[in-house]
Amino acid sequence: MIVGNWKMHKTIAEALEFLKKLPSGLCAEDIYLAVPFTALSSVADAAGTKLKVGAQNVSEHKEGAYTGEISIRMLKEAGATFSLVGHSERRTYYHETNQSIAHKLKACLQQGFKPILCIGETASERKAGHTQAVLEKQLSEGIQGLTSEEVLCLAVAYEPVWAIGTGHTATAEMAQETHKLCRELLKKRYTADIAAKIPILYGGSVNPNSIEQIIQQPDIDGALVGGASLEVDSFVKIVTIAREYKS
Ligand code: PGA
Repeated sequence: MIVGNWKMHKTIAEALEFLKKLPSGLCAEDIYLAVPFTALSSVADAAGTKLKVGAQNVSEHKEGAYTGEISIRMLKEAGATFSLVGHSERRTYYHETNQSIAHKLKACLQQGFKPILCIGETASERKAGHTQAVLEKQLSEGIQGLTSEEVLCLAVAYEPVWAIGTGHTATAEMAQETHKLCRELLKKRYTADIAAKIPILYGGSVNPNSIEQIIQQPDIDGALVGGASLEVDSFVKIVTIAREYKS
């Protein structure tokens, strides 16, 4: 599962240009693009069933007086099938909490909309030896109250904050260790079978050079790609390399 996160990049015209350049053989069910709200409907129309198109954020509310927010129903109507939830940029700049993230996850899953829960420690948390505690808190509070059936539709993305947009990918060993920790936690909460079925993606400066080591780790089921998903060339390379190891 490879998810491109375009963040606040690409107008509708630029997004359609990207799609036009994607080789048709590449497209498949396991490729996801999280695009800006404004481009959702055009990209979903152009992509058809070739890839999954989704949002980068979603409201936990069904509808109402929430200026500037977008509901799951609106996203679905625009052609989205999934959304990132709790990306570290949303936690940092827009003060999203584990509690609001839990509400978003519940709302998505109750409405048949796939959430990708993003978690990750900051550089200072890692330096202080708090990585495990931070991740356990983000993950367990995020999935709080989800039934076994609901959690099976979830994907988790581990993105160390210090690796996002910095060019410093976590080492494959470091990422594997953390992914294993997340898998264990899911196992404790649910069952080994359920934990094995939930995709855990790595994110943070993934590029065509780093994907090969990362994707070979047993508990890494895919990648969440920011910067390198903006150019067709690098995105295609990442998908192609990931496929070699995981298909
Ligand atoms: P990056 O972003 O690949 O540019 O580091 C990843 C993300 O924030 O999802």
